[in-house]
Amino acid sequence: MNEIYEAIKTSAIRIRELIEYDDTGYSSSINTTGDTQLKIDIKSDLVIEEEFRKIPSIKEIISEEKENKTSLHDNGIYTIGYDPLDGSSLIDVDLSVGSIFGIYEGGSNGAHLKAAVYVVYGPRVELVIAESDVKMYRLNQKNEFVYMHDIKLKEKGKLNAPGGTQQGWSKSHKKLIDDIFQDGYRLRYSGGMVPDLHQILLKGGGLFSYPGTTDVPKGKLRMIFEVFPFAFVFEQAGGAAINDKNQRILDLVPSHPHDTTPCFFGSKKEIERVMACYE
Ligand code: AHG
Ligand code: MN
Ligand code: MN
Repeated sequence: MNEIYEAIKTSAIRIRELIEYDDTGYSSSINTTGDTQLKIDIKSDLVIEEEFRKIPSIKEIISEEKENKTSLHDNGIYTIGYDPLDGSSLIDVDLSVGSIFGIYEGGSNGAHLKAAVYVVYGPRVELVIAESDVKMYRLNQKNEFVYMHDIKLKEKGKLNAPGGTQQGWSKSHKKLIDDIFQDGYRLRYSGGMVPDLHQILLKGGGLFSYPGTTDVPKGKLRMIFEVFPFAFVFEQAGGAAINDKNQRILDLVPSHPHDTTPCFFGSKKEIERVMACYE
């Protein structure tokens, strides 16, 4: 596993460089979800693929930017699902973005996840590795990721990050979000799931939701490279992650690499509230 983490660190340093200095214009291609790909999405994907090709334990990769799986090494054991640059349209307004990785063994269902990693490219570059615990690292001037501390959620937090088009929310979802605000929670939503979830994780807890809406009934966020990895991080940090049927996210089984799911990530108390609303 360590060689995979090292490959992710090298990729992160290279992607950081692209974010700071490279062209953020549109390419002429469209990805599976129908987004016009930014040149920087494609370049970041290539950087990661290049680094992962050097690691014999990686059997195959599933990227947000590619339609299908890519086989790397026949004798490898791990499947890595990744979003090379999440929230890339935020680069043009100089907000934080991220990379997300799920390291799977034996398939790419939630239950196959062995570890999850994400990188936040903000004023600083931070990297979080979740195995049986959740560890945060920060990039220093010598391009080394230095261990900072473990991440542990409190039972109940103070932040609320409500995603999705509000016009398309169900009545009960709207009531859930209104009630949470009525109880004193503060709005924290940048539109980038990596920094938004990172903030909740570092500030003790809260709720991040991306429900099914009338425009996207199955939500927007993809299981294999966005939702499963963060569900794993939240559980290992002492929180929880469920869908809109009160199922544990990590029990879900996607039928296509790009399948999406409504999702809720939070500390224990907030997820209990979601369960009471969606039961
Ligand atoms: P992408 O990988 O296409 O850049 O997706 C960004 C995601 C996620 O970071 C964020 O939480 C969500 O899209 C925001 O979606 P809305 O624009 O619907 O709020
Ligand atoms: Mn994404
Ligand atoms: Mn992306």
